[in-house]
Amino acid sequence: MTAITVSTLLLFGATGDLSHRMLLPSLYGLHVDELLPADLKILGTARSELDDAAFQQSGLEALAQYVPKDFYDEAKAKEFVKRLGYVTLDATQDEHFDELSKRIDASKGLAIFLSTAPSLFEPIIEGLKRVGLTGETVRMALEKPLGSDLASSREINDAVASAFPEERTFRIDHYLGKETVQNLLALRFANSIFEPVWNAAHIDHVQITVAETVGLESRAGYYDGAGALRDMVQNHILQLVALVAMEPPADFDATEIRDEKVKVLRSLRPMTKETVGKSLVLGQYGKGMADGEKAASYVEELGKPSSTETFAALKLNIDNWRWADVPFYIRTGKRLPERTTEIYIQFKCVPHSMFAKMGAVAKPNKLLISIQPDETISMMVMAKTPGLDRDGIRLREVPLDLGLANAFADTRKRIAYERLLLDLIEGRQMLFVRRDEVEAQWTWVDGVRAAFNAAAMDVATYAAGTWGPSASIALTERDGRQWHD
Ligand code: BG6
Repeated sequence: MTAITVSTLLLFGATGDLSHRMLLPSLYGLHVDELLPADLKILGTARSELDDAAFQQSGLEALAQYVPKDFYDEAKAKEFVKRLGYVTLDATQDEHFDELSKRIDASKGLAIFLSTAPSLFEPIIEGLKRVGLTGETVRMALEKPLGSDLASSREINDAVASAFPEERTFRIDHYLGKETVQNLLALRFANSIFEPVWNAAHIDHVQITVAETVGLESRAGYYDGAGALRDMVQNHILQLVALVAMEPPADFDATEIRDEKVKVLRSLRPMTKETVGKSLVLGQYGKGMADGEKAASYVEELGKPSSTETFAALKLNIDNWRWADVPFYIRTGKRLPERTTEIYIQFKCVPHSMFAKMGAVAKPNKLLISIQPDETISMMVMAKTPGLDRDGIRLREVPLDLGLANAFADTRKRIAYERLLLDLIEGRQMLFVRRDEVEAQWTWVDGVRAAFNAAAMDVATYAAGTWGPSASIALTERDGRQWHD
């Protein structure tokens, strides 16, 4: 795409939680590292009636609260907030867009970031069109949720496409901004040892766990209408599946990589009324524990009855040559025992173990890619337990640790949004989700939800602080496998 330099970053939803916790701290990080264009202005909009000074003050408070203490520098924060300006904007008011356009010279490059309720996407885009803020020098980034099913996602995508062609549309999936997620590409395609065994002949199964200890937080309005399938599986987890499963792209290029990802997403085997019972478990947390303290149930937090799932465990299959009969077990949930995101790849057992007669077990190799809280990659390999072996050899599994944290100890750990905001400002699309990917994701998730309803399945309750309903354990055990805990 043409390199348009950006002189204004326009944030819709600028007084919201995402802006305070992630966007402003990320922009501060880029500012401190002198990566933002020197003249870049960051213009916030929201319905609250603020002026520039009040927005700068709230920005300063957000930075003091959310930037890691060892990186926070008050003088730099004060310097950074000079970039901030604010325009009050109610998307239903034409004159507010007129005011907005007076503050922006789009010909000097404009990047827009929509982090509002999706119901506002269409009116905002209409308003921007009317005041001429959608031309060739303007890029549009969209934060999730991009719809709640395929139909509503298409509606949003159509509205966006009426003003922004795909090469100026940047759909955010913040998991793609995480360093270890990107590292999957390096691991798979910059090493020669993994790719030859990265297939059904050598891999027994794959697991992806995205576990959180938090509950509903303050997001009842959105979350109760979404649930774990739409909030986490449809986007972040399917993107991880696609990166693990895709064919090697020819080039490190946005089109090539997204072409390969979408092929995987289109190869996901649809769930049906007949198969869903053994492939899906949905749960909702009841009372229990969270971080060592008593925790209320989801329904108590919400204050009304609900059947929204806060946990989902799935077995999915990718119907192509490489992954034939290799199950991918996925689980995600709120109020689980720990916060962890990991990809676990279990290889097949050795075809014949010469140690078996001595009672020594050669366990299958496993590759564990931990995305958070730690960014580590380790390979479990079998080793001989030291000794004279007079009673026979003993084997033990030991980790071959890639120790990324130590290897790159001098590098600051960045927030995923730093990378994404910089790529938006500089116009690189590789880490943004293309329309066909989002729609393939929705197609599959809609099918899962429809199968669940057609089979009249229930959302089971699990105690907060546990690994979800017991049926999720059966999901892997039925196949003679176990979740990696
Ligand atoms: C968001 C979901 O997209 O991702 C949240 O809406 C979830 O429900 C969050 O908590 C998890 O992100 P991370 O980066 O903390 O794993």
